[in-house]
Amino acid sequence: MRFPEDVPVLSDNVVTLRAHTADDIDPAYRMCQDPVMQEWTTIPVPYLREHAVGYLTEVIPAGWQANTSWAWAIEYAGAYVGTIDLRDGVGGVGEVGFAVSPEVRGNGVMTRALRLVVRYAFDVLDWKRVIWRAYVGNFASRRVAWKVGFRGLVTIPGGGQSRGVRKDEWVATVGRDDELEPQGNWWTVPVLEGDGFRLRPLRESDAQRVMEACSDERTQHWLSGMPSPYGLDDAKGFIDSRQDAAAGGEAVAWAIADAESDELLGNVSVFGLNGRMDRTRGEIGYWMHPEARGRKVMTSAVQLLIAFAFRPVEDGGLGRRRLLVRCADVNTASAHVAEVNGFTKVGDERAADPRRDGSYDNLLTYDLLAEDVLRG
Ligand SMILES: CC(C)(COP(=O)(O)OP(=O)(O)OC[C@H]1O[C@@H](n2cnc3c(N)ncnc32)[C@H](O)[C@@H]1OP(=O)(O)O)[C@@H](O)C(=O)NCCC(=O)NCCS
Repeated sequence: MRFPEDVPVLSDNVVTLRAHTADDIDPAYRMCQDPVMQEWTTIPVPYLREHAVGYLTEVIPAGWQANTSWAWAIEYAGAYVGTIDLRDGVGGVGEVGFAVSPEVRGNGVMTRALRLVVRYAFDVLDWKRVIWRAYVGNFASRRVAWKVGFRGLVTIPGGGQSRGVRKDEWVATVGRDDELEPQGNWWTVPVLEGDGFRLRPLRESDAQRVMEACSDERTQHWLSGMPSPYGLDDAKGFIDSRQDAAAGGEAVAWAIADAESDELLGNVSVFGLNGRMDRTRGEIGYWMHPEARGRKVMTSAVQLLIAFAFRPVEDGGLGRRRLLVRCADVNTASAHVAEVNGFTKVGDERAADPRRDGSYDNLLTYDLLAEDVLRG
């Protein structure tokens, strides 16, 4: 194997992967100054020009020559914009790593590059499986991997390390016989405008209000699975976990926010969207900040959610067929939200809803079918 002559050129006519050259050193060095790049990868910090020289002129050629790692320069619109590499491969399983310059992100460059490289791993290197790893929170990388068909995502606490510090890591893989297409839904959380309020994605700055709402006595009473006491870290963890749940296709959660101040008034979500037996159902959950209760905001918020949930996926909705609400039979405020929104009481389970004092309430189940709404 001679470098660079024998490095195969891979192209889909938009993105071309080729051997690195000395001209790539400066743009690679500049790319590695990007704080996003430094946060999500293992590159040295501070990143010096000599690091780029060593990587491009020694590490990469040595990998090709030893048949232990395979790195390509990514060319897009006539310029070097990043690097993608395969490594390991022992026993037909190896890893992929990638990065692209900030100026071209969001144009589908890495999705194209990754598809080319995964095909190369299976078709030329004869691999059986490619592994993708990223630090938890790197949603741009996760989305690229999802688009190319990586699946079975798991989180490994402390599984990654960055400059001597352990970090939680996501791992997903794609196998030789798998389709290189997205598996499952990655929900985006739209803004839905209501009368005097809007449903919008939760954000970090909501944490204080989330904490107030969730440490409230009534919220704590009815939602007995919530941490108690409920602190600011619980609120932050909840907000982060909702982004993860949406990306994994599991749930969509909104902040109910005041139309003028945008302050959080409550939370409404639909979860259980990945049901193993039935992927057309969803369960609605909610809580309201104590200051915002009693104004029928939740009733209207659920009404907005219902329309969105029943809209087909092709039209930007959640493609649900059946929605559920569950609440304790003595939780009249909650049952009321379901009833005025046209839900039918279909279940009354005895002593099924645990309270914190060790007692149990009966648990009501309400459902609403898409056809109920169509019938009006
Ligand atoms: C990860 C990275 C390579 C993606 O490159 P890219 O060329 O922008 O990728 P693509 O344009 O093909 O796809 C990115 C997708 O992520 C989405 N995305 C970006 N940031 C996101 C975020 N914070 N949350 C959710 N999605 C996000 C984009 O909208 C796009 O999806 P879309 O096309 O459906 O809209 C680039 O962000 C990068 O170089 N990051 C720093 C290095 C890095 O993290 N490498 C991976 C280490 S595991």
